[in-house]
Amino acid sequence: MSDSKTNVSIDNSGVDPQSNFSLNPTFAAIVEGRMARRRFLKGSVGAAVAAIIGGSLAACSSSDGDPVPVVPPVNTAPLLGFTAVAAGRADAIQVPAGYTATAFLPWGTPLAGTYPPFLADATNSGAEQEQQVGMHHDGMHFFPIDTRSAGDSSTEGLLVFNHEYIDHNLIHPNGIDTVPRIADQVRKEVAAHGVTVAHIQQQTDGSWALVNNSPFNRRITGATPMELSGPVRGSSKVITKYSPDGSRTRGTLNNCGNGFTPWGTYLTCEENWAGYFVNADAEQPREHSRYGVSSSNGRYFWETAAPAADVYQRFNAGSTGASATEDYRNEPNTFGWIVEIDPFNPDSVPQKRTALGRFGHEGIIFGKLEEGKPVVLYSGDDSTFEYIYKFVSAAPYNKNTAGGHLLNEGTLYVARFNEDGSGDWLALDINNTDFAAKAATAGVTFTDQADVLLNTRLAADVAGATKMDRPEWGAVHPDTGEVYFTLTNNSRRTEQQTDAANPRAANTTGHIIRWHERETQSATAFDWDIFLLAGDVGTETPDTELVLTADNHLASPDGLWFDKNGLLWIQTDMSGSQQGEGPFGNNQMLVADPVTRQMKRFLVGPTDCEVTGISATPDMKTLFVNIQHPGDRSTPAEFTSHWPDGGNSRPRSATVVITKDDGGVIGS
Ligand code: FEO
Ligand code: CA
Ligand code: CA
Repeated sequence: MSDSKTNVSIDNSGVDPQSNFSLNPTFAAIVEGRMARRRFLKGSVGAAVAAIIGGSLAACSSSDGDPVPVVPPVNTAPLLGFTAVAAGRADAIQVPAGYTATAFLPWGTPLAGTYPPFLADATNSGAEQEQQVGMHHDGMHFFPIDTRSAGDSSTEGLLVFNHEYIDHNLIHPNGIDTVPRIADQVRKEVAAHGVTVAHIQQQTDGSWALVNNSPFNRRITGATPMELSGPVRGSSKVITKYSPDGSRTRGTLNNCGNGFTPWGTYLTCEENWAGYFVNADAEQPREHSRYGVSSSNGRYFWETAAPAADVYQRFNAGSTGASATEDYRNEPNTFGWIVEIDPFNPDSVPQKRTALGRFGHEGIIFGKLEEGKPVVLYSGDDSTFEYIYKFVSAAPYNKNTAGGHLLNEGTLYVARFNEDGSGDWLALDINNTDFAAKAATAGVTFTDQADVLLNTRLAADVAGATKMDRPEWGAVHPDTGEVYFTLTNNSRRTEQQTDAANPRAANTTGHIIRWHERETQSATAFDWDIFLLAGDVGTETPDTELVLTADNHLASPDGLWFDKNGLLWIQTDMSGSQQGEGPFGNNQMLVADPVTRQMKRFLVGPTDCEVTGISATPDMKTLFVNIQHPGDRSTPAEFTSHWPDGGNSRPRSATVVITKDDGGVIGS
């Protein structure tokens, strides 16, 4: 965005740059949804889920008659029993009657080291920010403290959460007003990115507190040393001055959604990382241009930091040296990955798992686990007209030996949603005959599988994937394994570009799509339908009973999560103007029954925020939700929100702890 209060044009990270101009087809016609729905339901265990959510089934049958074991729900009280929160524009958190929401661990909270206090005038230094909670909370997971054994603690654990970006108008007393940038301001901004690991404990009064001086408390930032693992490690295209053998890099950036593994590690996702770099060479390599690396300046001008230092100069990805070992022409190639972090080992080096592909990763979600079968993960590429991907590990999952190695070798696929409600996973594998033939036809050459992965978007173009309306988070039903994905919006889709999976032109309000795999999670065919078309009151989702009301109208669905009871939680990320002028009020969180499509608004956030990131204790009695960028239309002189501290305070992103006043299960 352009801000008249400073002399610097800042491209904030709410952007969704279009860099897919490939010519793979969109369907010309909107297809009758009936066939798609019929195909989806055939083989679906939706009806069984209805019974589970009703509360009492311990086992049920799939449509082919085989028994499907299910995990008993943790709650037998009726769910969705609360009264929906009204849409609104208060500068506060609204939750249903009978619930309490409390801000927790806001930006700047002393976390580690010398625990430097947060200074309300934003004068904390870069070194202090490195020891404090970062800015702009996003994806999050609660790891019970006994994750590696019973995994059932609901009173103590590690809360791990992302910091997607920084707000230049709030992180410093006077915003950003000089280029070249002041090095310590850049240090602070780099440190406000990344991930927080916070050891937290429930107190006797029911509140939650940080465990001070815990060895687990840790900041991972935009400068933390990391390793590249998987097929791209050692590639000539990730050689840098910092890592002449192409095995290492520094930092993770623009960490949006998240995932977590069955073996107790955290996954953070690099989304709009390309904007942090500049490459002003006459011609950019495809590894840069297809992802939108700027040819003029990095988003926050970090490359200009003075006094100059290697850790900042690396954001200039031009060919300034004689070879790749003397400059940072390949630095952007070390971003765009899923990063695995072991929160239980504070000395662990984060691993960038390159087998999972390189794109604008929104989040990542495991498919339903099956002992002895491959692990399956899904990830969306959140940019206009980008794709949804699936990774299938080469090695099988065994609970006792599972670990990060499962993410180093496997097959990456991209989704094609067919008009008739079927879908295909298209392998992005240089040794796959079909893929190799398509690449040859397109005149695209990949030197090896590392080259395919570095150019995942191009590979997906070649394969003929379906261009989606900005894929955001995915969620997998805990019992059925059905996969749901938010498609947040795409105002650029024209009538001619509509297809069955993206049926609306100028789609400003978004939708949610879902599918189930044919037979096994690793199948290459699936069946899909549209779960929800978002919009104003009265919006109908074709071929369903769903008509949105004042209790559940919404736009720009983004965060998505299934709780243990099989309820689907939906978080919104409307733009400032959509919140300010539309019928929806502030960003919000809703909860839906995936079978009946009953849906109620559970939370409304403060002014100019995004509601994103969600996790819970195993007993579902404490829910953690993140509030990102409250007051994001603030200037250094005028704050548009004062949440959470009130008065005239500077707004701060924070986690919110939600409990039910009667001690019951959240969502009941
Ligand atoms: Fe960071 Fe796609 O939201
Ligand atoms: Ca998001
Ligand atoms: Ca979003």
